Amino acid sequence: MNTQEVPGRAEFLSLLDAQFSIPVSDIQGIIREFHSEMQKGLAGNPGSLKMLPSFSARPKGTEKGSFLALDLGGTNLRVLAVELDGKGGSNVVAVSRFTIGKKAMQGTGNQLFDFIADSILEFFKDNAIDQNRKYDLSFTFSFPVEQTDIASGRLIEWTKDFTAKGVVGEDVVCLLNNALKRKRISCVNVAALVNDTVGTLASKCYSNPSCDLGVILGTGTNACYLEKLSNITKMKRKNANGEMIVNMEWGNFNKFVRTAYDADLDKASPNPGVQHMEKMVSGMYLGEITRMIICDLIRRGMLFSMIDHAFIFSKTGSFETQHMSIIASDGSSDLKNVEILLSEMGVESIKPDDKKNLKRICKLVSDRSATIVAAAISAVLTWMDPELKCRHIVGVDGSLFEKYPGYADEVNNVLFSLFEKKSSPIFLEPAKDGSGKGAAIIAAVATSTEISASLIDL
Ligand code: GLC
Repeated sequence: MNTQEVPGRAEFLSLLDAQFSIPVSDIQGIIREFHSEMQKGLAGNPGSLKMLPSFSARPKGTEKGSFLALDLGGTNLRVLAVELDGKGGSNVVAVSRFTIGKKAMQGTGNQLFDFIADSILEFFKDNAIDQNRKYDLSFTFSFPVEQTDIASGRLIEWTKDFTAKGVVGEDVVCLLNNALKRKRISCVNVAALVNDTVGTLASKCYSNPSCDLGVILGTGTNACYLEKLSNITKMKRKNANGEMIVNMEWGNFNKFVRTAYDADLDKASPNPGVQHMEKMVSGMYLGEITRMIICDLIRRGMLFSMIDHAFIFSKTGSFETQHMSIIASDGSSDLKNVEILLSEMGVESIKPDDKKNLKRICKLVSDRSATIVAAAISAVLTWMDPELKCRHIVGVDGSLFEKYPGYADEVNNVLFSLFEKKSSPIFLEPAKDGSGKGAAIIAAVATSTEISASLIDL
């Protein structure tokens, strides 16, 4: 490229706009690709959607009892005690949170599972839990797992920031039980192994039976939905009546066009080559994509006057999705909060254009994420109900959906542009604490004799 061809700032920003926008007219094609990947996954053929049977059915809302729940998959580990009233109501009666250190996340499997067992012991101590009783525990393990029944399954691969060695290919419930034995915890029975999406769907269904899709938009992204057993052709079973919740692992969908930033982010990640959609959508990555664009603009002399500002943003993780959230929430005419944030980061001589352009970049990245999510939701809903004749409640959990300013509205806007009047029976609703309450509901389904008997036929 000779110097005359180097784009100016305005032109470069327009190029970025074009690279990051997904026209509504392209979404129908994406939906078709989604359907084809879903089909492959359900048949057990290679593809980007794993479509993992959860061995859980839709809860009825009458499940009752007290359960422990263990939630592993984000930045914290949580241990909870949950009570279900059998009338669609649930209550977290005790909860302890533990920061997962690097050693547990990226060391050996034993380190990770010992940390989990130690945390359970601490939870017992902090909440004066009587260890002479027996407790059914639901293990929310938010990673791709090939389940063999409701309470066992092998980890297919780690996602997000987890890399603990010696866990891939192993039954994670066995690893947990071994750690419980090592720590002499004998009062816990692991009754269910649950993906966070499944917990989310269950927690919404518990009070609202028209929920048929559960979505996580947090550190990672994923969804599960209710599938007819007869469509899960890869499962060998005697009785193909009824439905089962399927964990799609949609974060691995790989048919969206990626930018050079996405490709670079993927290369530098702990799991290159996989989770393409997750890396374009979820909270763990949006800040990083934006940081890469910021660095590119600084290098080109198009953002911040001082080129040595590059070092402020040079480190991976130095600009986070939380920063984007602050920028997106600044609606003031002089973008005062953007200025405060940048000054705190060490940026000097900030010009009004810098603030505006930074806000524009954040919006590009977050809007693309919301558009992808809307496309994916549309794909699953039209798979279940091609003409969108029924009412669909989509239970959504995760900080991106809950806290990022304007994110949920953007997903709804895209759904509306796609389906126009037809989008009216689609409701995106926050589903709080699927990994705690929802997981307890799944444990209740699993321990109820009625359901266990029907699962034997599968
Ligand atoms: C990752 C995991 C998936 C989980 C999602 C949200 O995509 O692979 O199992 O549901 O993160 O936590």
